Amino acid sequence: MILPGSATQALAAELAAETGRELAGVSLDRFADGERSVRVEGVEAGAEVVVVASTLSDSLHVELLQLQDAAREAGATRVTTVLPYMGYARQDRSFEPGQSVSARAVARAISTGTDRVLTVNPHERQVCEYFDVPATAVDAAGRLAVPLPELGQPLFLAPDAGAEPLATTVRDAHGTGTVDYCEKTRHSDTDVDVTPCAADVAGRDVVLVDDIVATGSTMSEAVAAIDGRGATRVFVTCVHPVLARGGYTKLRRAGVTAVYGTDTVEHHVSAVTAAPVIAEAL
Ligand code: R5P
Repeated sequence: MILPGSATQALAAELAAETGRELAGVSLDRFADGERSVRVEGVEAGAEVVVVASTLSDSLHVELLQLQDAAREAGATRVTTVLPYMGYARQDRSFEPGQSVSARAVARAISTGTDRVLTVNPHERQVCEYFDVPATAVDAAGRLAVPLPELGQPLFLAPDAGAEPLATTVRDAHGTGTVDYCEKTRHSDTDVDVTPCAADVAGRDVVLVDDIVATGSTMSEAVAAIDGRGATRVFVTCVHPVLARGGYTKLRRAGVTAVYGTDTVEHHVSAVTAAPVIAEAL
């Protein structure tokens, strides 16, 4: 039985189809004071339930805890929680004295309602260690090759060294092309510098690859780093197309031809589902 979170309905349906499991119904409501209520339909006593919920906001975190609890209340004997996009995962350490390790805080809360966790491309895999139940990270980067059009002499370019393995995965899934990466310095949440990489982009299609596009600052800087050097087209691909604060417009204004993401985050650029890799790990 697949139990979908409200922000992850498309992926939950794909996962149900991929695994041959039934899709449970979920009703969401609010009490007069604004607090959310969640009711599930179709979960029978003894069921094995897979809750699929990206936690893109604080209220979606609460909804996830409610879904887990509703599954148990209905008599589920085993609950697996799939976090296609795990909110707060980038706050995986204390960046300043006295600051919370928010990824650990939410991981502990999520652990209380589940037997197991699966997450997709968290910024750092080590975040899995924060859960009190077995937790696994799956890699959906290879799926990003699916929506790409035919490419001419493609260069798969990561905006920083950390994303280079993802660029390699997309290149391998595409089948041809070279891989390179830029150097990135982050000054603040929205202020990043990307140093031009030496790769020859003239006459080539460039595919930028990262795990998350949050505000689009990193990717628009990466586009600027190759600007004026004769690339034929520039595509942006990412597993998690968060695209907050006008991020999509920022990328199009930077000259990007198209943006492609997976459905871990539901956006009009979510051109491919991550369901097959999640299904394999379930
Ligand atoms: C961090 O290093 C991540 O891999 C992404 O590069 C980052 O989250 C993107 O954030 P933004 O789109 O706000 O630059």
